[in-house]
Amino acid sequence: MNRFESLKESMYIPSEELINDIEKIDGDIMILGVSGKMGVNLAKLAKRASNKAKNQKKIYGVARFTESDGIQEELESEGIETIKCDFMSEDQLEALPEVKNIIYMVGYKFGTVGNEDFAWAINSYLPGRIANKYKASNIVAFSTGCVYPLVKVSAGAPSEEFPPEAVGEYAQSCLGRERILQYFSKQNQTPMTIFRLNYAIDLKYGVLSEIAQAVLNEQPIDLTMGHANVIWQKDACEMAVRSLRVVSTPANVINVTGPETVSIRWMAERFAEKFNKTPKFTGIESDMALLSNASKAHTIFGYPKTTIREMIDTTSEWLLNGGDTIDKPTHFQEREGKY
Ligand SMILES: NC(=O)c1ccc[n+]([C@@H]2O[C@H](COP(=O)([O-])OP(=O)(O)OC[C@H]3O[C@@H](n4cnc5c(N)ncnc54)[C@H](OP(=O)(O)O)[C@@H]3O)[C@@H](O)[C@H]2O)c1
Repeated sequence: MNRFESLKESMYIPSEELINDIEKIDGDIMILGVSGKMGVNLAKLAKRASNKAKNQKKIYGVARFTESDGIQEELESEGIETIKCDFMSEDQLEALPEVKNIIYMVGYKFGTVGNEDFAWAINSYLPGRIANKYKASNIVAFSTGCVYPLVKVSAGAPSEEFPPEAVGEYAQSCLGRERILQYFSKQNQTPMTIFRLNYAIDLKYGVLSEIAQAVLNEQPIDLTMGHANVIWQKDACEMAVRSLRVVSTPANVINVTGPETVSIRWMAERFAEKFNKTPKFTGIESDMALLSNASKAHTIFGYPKTTIREMIDTTSEWLLNGGDTIDKPTHFQEREGKY
């Protein structure tokens, strides 16, 4: 296995904690929205953890598989049972099998401006349909730290005690998703975890990759959104599966991200050292940023295994060796919630 392959492979090696937890989860697991940027990683980790556990379980991966890029075949070759389904079709949704554990990963963000009605349908209406279909299951539903407003960096990041105050229709529709799920969790006694994620970092995608590419290509980096919280995608995916163990009624809301508030300037400077470049900046750091305090997740699952310096090292190595990237900007610099 060459270095490229071993870096990629490292994303799919389940931790002992995940293997132990998956052993304790009763029933099979179905991932709704499996073909996205995180779903494949999550499905493979769950399947491999289950293979190593005493009681093997079926892992289902469901999506429309709109991009014909071999994802469905890749998942099938791992032993994940894939199903093509458009969740917005009542008939197709109803035809899905009953499964004890659901991880719901569908969301619509980029292109919300101009498509607000569609964003609300996907982000707020559809979760109600899913909650109705899977009222007898445990549900972990992905959400976003965008439900919080920008906060003063000096005041510290908001934890779950902080009331959401969504800015812009994307964030508002995601808060709608949380509220609808919370309603159905109580109404139907469906145990749920709401998984409020801030910036998963993959080899090919995410805030770190974007900053690294800008430094490498000598492009300016806007510093106005001067701080962020990030987490290695593998760590986030493991926490999502392990969240099936902490579902509750009313729904258990958990912020998920890394432990530190990272300075964008500091990160760019570290990449500049790796690439022997001088970073170019525009703007100055605002004292307000979109942040999340994930200390509750760290208490439940332990700190994420991958440190910020390891993320920087791995991302640099990937890019310096010509690793490919997914051209889907995170727009983490957005300050008015217009995606
Ligand atoms: N990545 C991050 O850093 C991050 C940060 C905060 C929150 N989140 C949230 O976490 C979740 C997972 O993230 P992600 O980056 O993996 O999302 P993503 O790349 O947008 O993936 C969304 C998935 O949903 C599927 N989907 C969309 N509409 C569907 C429909 N009508 N029927 C069936 N499947 C449908 C898509 O596949 P098809 O098009 O093939 O159907 C895809 O598999 C999302 O809800 C996202 O908003 C992610």
